[in-house]
Amino acid sequence: ARPKVIFSGIQPTGVPHLGNYLGALQQWTKLQNEAAPEDTLIYSIVDLHAITNTQSPHKLRQCRTEMMASLLAIGLDPKRSTIFQQSAVPAHSELMWILSTQASVGYLSRMTQWKSKLSLPENASPLDPTTKAPLKLGLFSYPVLQAADILIHRATHVPVGEDQLQHLEFARECARTFNFKFRGRPLVMPRTILSPAKRVMSLADPTKKMSKSDSLLNSRILITDTEDEIWQKIRSAKTDSIKGVTYDPEARPGVSNLVEILFNLDNCGASSCEELANHMKDYTLLSLKQHVNDVVNAELEPIRSKYNELISKDQGKALAEIAHEGAQKASASAAATMKIVKEAIGL
Ligand code: ADP
Ligand code: NA
Repeated sequence: ARPKVIFSGIQPTGVPHLGNYLGALQQWTKLQNEAAPEDTLIYSIVDLHAITNTQSPHKLRQCRTEMMASLLAIGLDPKRSTIFQQSAVPAHSELMWILSTQASVGYLSRMTQWKSKLSLPENASPLDPTTKAPLKLGLFSYPVLQAADILIHRATHVPVGEDQLQHLEFARECARTFNFKFRGRPLVMPRTILSPAKRVMSLADPTKKMSKSDSLLNSRILITDTEDEIWQKIRSAKTDSIKGVTYDPEARPGVSNLVEILFNLDNCGASSCEELANHMKDYTLLSLKQHVNDVVNAELEPIRSKYNELISKDQGKALAEIAHEGAQKASASAAATMKIVKEAIGL
């Protein structure tokens, strides 16, 4: 088989939560540890995406460092995986511009987050769905940057959570359009690797996905939370007043979310969430929560101590050195693609 190039990214918008961990990061380490010697792994802290949100320069700098520490704490090994800050490799934005000369505005505006939101009355200015401020071009076009992130490294496999499927399809569309227009099939078509934990829901409102941008802090467990913080969040997780444990995401979103978290961390030999819930059918919801708490704690305890160690002894220097080395490797990978792309279009 052809060697794989595995690429993925995460925004430096805060310490990763359990959704990021189960939906993406756990898979990143697993892929690293199972990769063949000839495979390449490239993981980017996508800071140019993060600036589509409002953030102070101080906070952004801090988040970039915290994300680097988080990625090392979950088990990424900089000797095996290239880990770098996206903005340190300008070819990402250069390819974005080139792709945007071919990308369809119609396709972008049909993506779920914009659908209907952009069909406003005549002369009305499109609005940002979160802030209701006038929509910035970068927030609208960031899927093109995401496509460039992937295509610039000639990625063959991209591990993501379910929320990213549409963006991956768009990245493939960019590659298809480009390869159709220019000779020699300059870009490589990437494949999606969907994480087993497709969508972890908010603990405070299990009808919404767990997200870094949720204003409710008890909606998410951070990978650096203390034992007390984890229990406080799980204990107060929204469930229902039905007796016993069943798996039914429609009727019992809160309980089902806890079962899914459990299943993805320690399936106890069950082959599905339904089967796991059946093993626990006589548990009270409190004992379900206690069990989830034990399992989450066992998983996060070593991650938390590694993170605290990296952040405390770091003072910026060691982590910056790893980012610098990662950027050099990523730059070389990107330069090889830019050469092919520029040649294909006559630049
Ligand atoms: P967030 O949406 O929390 O800001 P990012 O956009 O940085 O996180 O996404 C990083 C990765 O985490 C992506 O691969 C995404 O699919 C995954 N992810 C984010 N939230 C969840 C969730 N609630 N469940 C599963 N995967 C998730
Ligand atoms: Na997201």
